[in-house]
Amino acid sequence: MEAFIFRIRRQEGPEAAPFWQEFAYRGDGSATVASALDELNSLDSPRDAEGRPAAPIAWECGCWQRRCGACAMLVNGLPRLACSVFIGEAAGRRRAIKLEPLSKFPVARDLAVDRSAIFESLKGMGLWLEGDAYQPRWGRGLLYHSARCLLCGCCLEACPNFRLGAAGFAGAAAAVAANLFLEQCDGAENRATMAKRYQSAFYGGCGKSMSCLRICPIGLPIDDLLARSNAIAVWGS
Ligand code: FES
Repeated sequence: MEAFIFRIRRQEGPEAAPFWQEFAYRGDGSATVASALDELNSLDSPRDAEGRPAAPIAWECGCWQRRCGACAMLVNGLPRLACSVFIGEAAGRRRAIKLEPLSKFPVARDLAVDRSAIFESLKGMGLWLEGDAYQPRWGRGLLYHSARCLLCGCCLEACPNFRLGAAGFAGAAAAVAANLFLEQCDGAENRATMAKRYQSAFYGGCGKSMSCLRICPIGLPIDDLLARSNAIAVWGS
């Protein structure tokens, strides 16, 4: 068993002032941040590192195995999935880990944020298929990767061009999802609309930093997905 300190940015609600609170944790370095948070919350009466009573830490999780994206948060300043970060690696020599909510989405409480803007982007881009008989033109490999996207928001957090609510750039999450529909839309009635909305919601606003590719927690080939979506939506090939 080792001793760790979790420094957590807390906020009681969307309008409340944030504050920092530290928690002492004793455990195995091979535990994940998610399991440590769960353990801290499972104590009968949680206390901070100074022994003062503390409210349970709000955060989201679903699958515990990097499949749902719910546990995305900033771990030591980087957008990560809490269920895939081992505390022994994250703590470093100081044996301390800093946790914050994703900064580009409104805080619901503590580490939980409202990511509904991602889904609104997908709806706004008209990502559905009308008509029938859809056949992918480029094979199914990229379709598979597009469907794996967790919509966790890590790519948007890392992107220098994405600003919540700003028109003209919905970010990589929307463009990756668009691949699934653009690739299959040859005979779709809404093909032209989808392509036009893709151009205005993604193509012109992407600065090609590819920070999304580096930060994606499940290693999606985002460069290939974007290149293919751009080719279909912009050049019709
Ligand atoms: S809990 Fe599902 S990805 Fe972490």
